Amino acid sequence: MSTASAELLSLPARLAGPRPTIVVVGLGYVGLPLCVELAESGAEVLGLDVHAGLCAQLNEGRSHVGDISDAQLARAREAGFVAGIDARVVARADAVVICVPTPLRKTKDPDISYIVAAGQAVSAHARKGQLFVLESTTYPGTTEELLVPMLEERGLTVGVDVAVAFSPERVDPGNPKYGIRNTPKVVGGCSPLCGNAAEALYRRCCDHVHRVSTPATAETVKLLENTFRMVNIALVNEFALICRQLGLDVWEVIEAASTKPFGFMPFKPGPGLGGHCIPIDPHYLAWKLRAHNFTARFVELADAINSKMPDHVVEVLTDVLNDAERAVKGSRVLILGVAYKPDISDMRESPALEVITHLARKQANVSYHDPFVARLAIEERQYQSVALTAATLSEADAVVVITDHRSFDWDFVLKHSRWIVDARNATVKARAAAPELAKKVRTI
Ligand SMILES: NC(=O)c1ccc[n+]([C@@H]2O[C@H](COP(=O)([O-])OP(=O)(O)OC[C@H]3O[C@@H](n4cnc5c(N)ncnc54)[C@H](O)[C@@H]3O)[C@@H](O)[C@H]2O)c1
Repeated sequence: MSTASAELLSLPARLAGPRPTIVVVGLGYVGLPLCVELAESGAEVLGLDVHAGLCAQLNEGRSHVGDISDAQLARAREAGFVAGIDARVVARADAVVICVPTPLRKTKDPDISYIVAAGQAVSAHARKGQLFVLESTTYPGTTEELLVPMLEERGLTVGVDVAVAFSPERVDPGNPKYGIRNTPKVVGGCSPLCGNAAEALYRRCCDHVHRVSTPATAETVKLLENTFRMVNIALVNEFALICRQLGLDVWEVIEAASTKPFGFMPFKPGPGLGGHCIPIDPHYLAWKLRAHNFTARFVELADAINSKMPDHVVEVLTDVLNDAERAVKGSRVLILGVAYKPDISDMRESPALEVITHLARKQANVSYHDPFVARLAIEERQYQSVALTAATLSEADAVVVITDHRSFDWDFVLKHSRWIVDARNATVKARAAAPELAKKVRTI
């Protein structure tokens, strides 16, 4: 086995030193918070993105990520953070961290084109003594099968000339309790020295770094975490459907089961999965396994159940309108909350999109209110968030709660709405406080 070059041997110490240079590729929900945290640690951080307008905006001090305030961005800029589109900055870096998107194609197969493009741009300027970390969520094997060959084609041997690792991002947008610093960071290097370099990098901004033996292990850790959530959400969604068949309140069942102090962990049913992670990542795993002639059955079943939940919401709404002797066609339906989860503006994969699409196809007259999302375009239809007033609530034949933003006043919503389909059980306290109004509400 070849021995590591002097440039590589000195890398962990440089990364732990006072001012290493770090390039973060992809300045979105994952990349920008990492830039800010690394800049706070004293590193020189250079952001690289393909979106020139975004780089200009960040260089003017305007953050586009909810978890990063303009003040935090200003501090990072004072510490030297600059964003740009020129990949030549990679040549100056001690470490390069890739945080580009990993969406699905229409066929639900992985779209790794962003990793390929970023990997090519970065490896074109790679040199001895650098660390390359992939943070994008992806299928097991991507780091070693895709990124490593790109660097080796440039004549750089991994573990000898350069270090390569995978470290999954666990950021939970909008979570006020857990951020980069206090969320343990899993790191898997291609060799022990690669792992040492990655650990030195993340020790700058994470209180706890957990090493695993290989990049593929680290890639699989992330997929286990997200498949765990996807499957448990599907289980509880199926319980919502089961309870409906049995005429029971699933929320009461969950609340009571949650009193068990061991062996039970509550998950909540809802209108369907949303966001850039849980609905998408497990398909990366399933895709990889198909190449091994193995079916990831839990993933497929969970996907089938979760993706039917928007239909279920529409079905419950149809029943509510039916009881009020109204057809869906022509009914005025107000959607409350369209972001995929509370207190953020992210609409990616939001179940609200499906619910609105179904209702619009049935010719309901749909409007929405979301304090975080001013406007929406779905299937060439444009929507604008309406004000949440007594009039907008009472004028709607039914209100459908999709996202339970903390700012919503549920007593007010309950008081003024005619009928409510509550897909989040958000009105539970308001109903307890005004039991005479509770009959307006149908949960899922
Ligand atoms: N958002 C989350 O909550 C979250 C959590 C954990 C993991 N992840 C994973 O992290 C990765 C990034 O997700 P995100 O939410 O930050 O995405 P994002 O869409 O918010 O940001 C990605 C950025 O990468 C840029 N980009 C695309 N191609 C590029 C290229 N070739 N070179 C440079 N920049 C490029 C885009 O312009 C964009 O600004 C994904 O794999 C995602 O699954 C996301």
